[in-house]
Amino acid sequence: MTDIEKYIEENKNLINDFLKTHFSKKAYNKKFPHNKFSLNDAMLYTLATPGKRIRPIILLIAAESLGFSDKKRLIPFASSLELIHSYSLIHDDLPSMDNDSLRRGKPANHIVFGEASAILAGDALLAEAFVILSDNEYIEGFDPKKIIEIIRELSYTSGAGGLAGGQFLDVNSFGASLGFENIEYINKNKTASLIGAACAMGAILAGGDNLIVDNFKKFGSCLGLAFQTIDDVLGITGNKEILGKTTGIDKTNKKFTVVENIGLEKTYELINEYNEKALFYLNKTGAKSDALIEFTYHLTNRIN
Ligand code: IPE
Ligand code: IPE
Ligand code: MG
Ligand code: MG
Repeated sequence: MTDIEKYIEENKNLINDFLKTHFSKKAYNKKFPHNKFSLNDAMLYTLATPGKRIRPIILLIAAESLGFSDKKRLIPFASSLELIHSYSLIHDDLPSMDNDSLRRGKPANHIVFGEASAILAGDALLAEAFVILSDNEYIEGFDPKKIIEIIRELSYTSGAGGLAGGQFLDVNSFGASLGFENIEYINKNKTASLIGAACAMGAILAGGDNLIVDNFKKFGSCLGLAFQTIDDVLGITGNKEILGKTTGIDKTNKKFTVVENIGLEKTYELINEYNEKALFYLNKTGAKSDALIEFTYHLTNRIN
């Protein structure tokens, strides 16, 4: 295991432990005798299934690169990103969106719980992210202004100005031949915005000034563009068992990604360009960036 792999593994465990504890403290398990499952079951089915947890991990590395050393206090804020991400995956797989049936190596949420429950599980995860970000126990000791700033960052990038806006254009573009700029616009919003928010939130919590936060956000956004582009490549060249999700779904949906637009070879070049841009902005943050550089390359070489 390389240093970054060890770091990822350790932090994944901290995030998974937090998620388990947080939900065990909540009484979301209400069900009637005729119900097979509770809302909590449907939420945790996707949330607690091991994903890569890259968004929370980026927040942690970003804050640590600016010298914030009390990592334990960051775990709830980092984990809130995973709730938003998991909600987005549940909704992304719905029949009315990508109509995908496999997620994180298991049947998609709506296959197990039904569409209505999957929609509500997603809604509840989205809202719970903000319950976490404003929880007295977790925000104790942080400047309230910083907490408001991270709440604004996450709510803005989850909504019309980011993830939801990008997904809207994405699902309303099936069958359309989009030009490169429009495809990139979708990727920037549906995926890169949340990764940018993860970086910005880490920098805000670590006390970075506006310029540092802005450069972290730009770093994350470029990293996110590379991340989505790799996702599209893996959707074609990847292995279903390793990915834990269906391959070839974009073709089924007639969704034309960057790969169809510029070809596989140029797509690899594009991923390198995004990474170079990301590292350019990272350099401008003045942070101790070794771990983030390693993480960038780790993500580029991923197979799932
Ligand atoms: C998949 O995200 C959806 C995209 C935004 C590309 P991840 O590749 O981070 O999925 P998990 O969390 O590891 O399942
Ligand atoms: C990723 O959508 C963006 C979000 C889920 C917000 P995709 O449809 O490209 O991701 P996968 O391939 O299903 O994970
Ligand atoms: Mg999609
Ligand atoms: Mg999808």
